[in-house]
Amino acid sequence: MSKVLGIDVGGSGIKGAPVDLEVGDFAEPRLRIPTPEKSSPKNVVTVLREIVDNFAPTIGDGPVGISFPAPARHGVIPFIANLDQGWAGLHAEEYISDALGRPVTVLNDADAAGLGEVHYGAARGVPGVVILTTLGTGIGSAVINNGILLPNTELGHLEIDGHDAETRAASSVKDRKHMSYRDWATKRLQRYYEVVEMLFSPDLFVVGGGVSKDHSKFFKYLTLETPIVPAKLLNRAGIIGAAWQAQWRLEHPDATEEQVVTAAKKAKNAD
Ligand code: BGC
Repeated sequence: MSKVLGIDVGGSGIKGAPVDLEVGDFAEPRLRIPTPEKSSPKNVVTVLREIVDNFAPTIGDGPVGISFPAPARHGVIPFIANLDQGWAGLHAEEYISDALGRPVTVLNDADAAGLGEVHYGAARGVPGVVILTTLGTGIGSAVINNGILLPNTELGHLEIDGHDAETRAASSVKDRKHMSYRDWATKRLQRYYEVVEMLFSPDLFVVGGGVSKDHSKFFKYLTLETPIVPAKLLNRAGIIGAAWQAQWRLEHPDATEEQVVTAAKKAKNAD
């Protein structure tokens, strides 16, 4: 199978790598380009084009999966918290696909990470409800039940104690306020996960985002009923999940998200 390009658009960097979907990992080292200061659709597309051109020899004229830091409802961005407001209301999938001249799938970044973990990582084969949260510039969420993703949940924007949760508990807040891992975990994350746990009674929390590689520095301060583990693909999960979804969409142009995962489960059971 050819390699499929996954790109993760983040608040500070735009990162892409061709993904080997047989093994669920990067086929080549990723390329990271800083997010333009004005992260308008036009400026971001310029960076996307540079990443696509860089990997063109590997990906041929194949599809591109884009993990995006906002909900993406059938390719349309209803609102956006951490990038230029020019994206709000835009059919991002069509816009980017037209600009790059190839098939493009745009999905929420936490959902992309969730799909990566369902197919190749910590959520693979896990029965019941798994909630993946990404801790970064904001907080993203993917809610998965028996391997099926409920897309576009926005649990980073739960209002907790009168605040938009991500403005208190995202890892960017820890960095900005120079908080220790201990203070961040005990004063901010504990309350966040407690509320999510109360609302959803999940079977497993998976934590993604850049800070997931430092999990041993803060998981120990959390007291929860629910087991909590780092994303196995760490912050590669979004790129890998986006590439997976792009390939699946190409093969099943009329499919829904639910069918995407169900078919993957069937394929896995057939192994
Ligand atoms: C956005 C989510 C996104 C998360 C992480 C939030 O501000 O609303 O869609 O998943 O940040 O990037």
